[in-house]
Amino acid sequence: MKKLTLGLSALALSVSAATAQANCDAGEIVAKLSHVTGGTTHPKVVAANKLAERVNAEMNGTMCIEVYPNSTLFGDSKELEALLLGDVQILAPSLSKFGSYTSKFGVFDLPFIFKDMDAAMRFTNSDAGQDLLLAMEDVGFVGLGYWMSGMKYFSANKPLLKPSDAEGLKFRVQNSDVAKAMIAAMGGSPQPMAFKEVYGALQTGVVDGQENTWSNIYTKKFFEVQDSTTETSHQLLAYLFMTSQEFLDSMPKDAREQFIAIAKDVTNEANLSVKDKEANYRQSILDAGGKINTLDDAGRKAWVDAMKPVWKQFEDKIGADLIEAAANS
Ligand code: LMR
Repeated sequence: MKKLTLGLSALALSVSAATAQANCDAGEIVAKLSHVTGGTTHPKVVAANKLAERVNAEMNGTMCIEVYPNSTLFGDSKELEALLLGDVQILAPSLSKFGSYTSKFGVFDLPFIFKDMDAAMRFTNSDAGQDLLLAMEDVGFVGLGYWMSGMKYFSANKPLLKPSDAEGLKFRVQNSDVAKAMIAAMGGSPQPMAFKEVYGALQTGVVDGQENTWSNIYTKKFFEVQDSTTETSHQLLAYLFMTSQEFLDSMPKDAREQFIAIAKDVTNEANLSVKDKEANYRQSILDAGGKINTLDDAGRKAWVDAMKPVWKQFEDKIGADLIEAAANS
């Protein structure tokens, strides 16, 4: 990567910090990293930019990463295909977006399977969780690690204090059969939609609600076009930090090993701070005037009772052993 020259304007510097765009040299292995999230301290943005920063410094002259955030290169619907075509080399899609390639990842979407982020991390670090990184080896996808983000919460254009408040409402979901079944179990209507379209769909009433982390609800301003968000913590949002086997095979052995070692380091470091980041974004929503409905134990139990029957529907597809391993983590 060419060194930044001192004459850069403040504007250019801030753009460069937000997107970690590199200026790759001829002869370097160039990897495009595409993702859909925004902001500067969002967990995925931080991990992606850190990866690029470290590779571009430590592998200067050998490998160079260019980061494309905010669906600027590929959005949800095209990015996995693009990875297989070699049009992008590194991605970090939500674990909910792999339904066309494996049903096993449905385990991450089962409502209330993880008590909290710590339980989710115990599972992703377990043998069962690590095996899933290679669940799509046959397709040519290689999971390099899990980038955790946060638990998910429901927001809508009216207060959702109990599950029956969701009856008849349209909720945007990621393209996940488990998520669709979960919304149906609440009496709502699931509308799969790409992430970049969610704000507009909430604003114009194409959908009434959505489910996401504090970091996405804040950085994409969903709270501004919703009545309130209910602190359900019903699902995990985490990302598969991934590449393709073809890309790894194209690299000389030393470069591949160095890249994989940096990837592991960045993953471990990024995951240490996600809980703090989420807490900060929750506070930022409140500071900006967003409303958050909290649940007491009885209130939370009502949501669990409404959504947990979904587990049974997916037991055959996901596998009872895998569900048990996740639930007991
Ligand atoms: C969503 O589609 O809601 C999220 O997966 C977006 C993201 O990558 O955080």
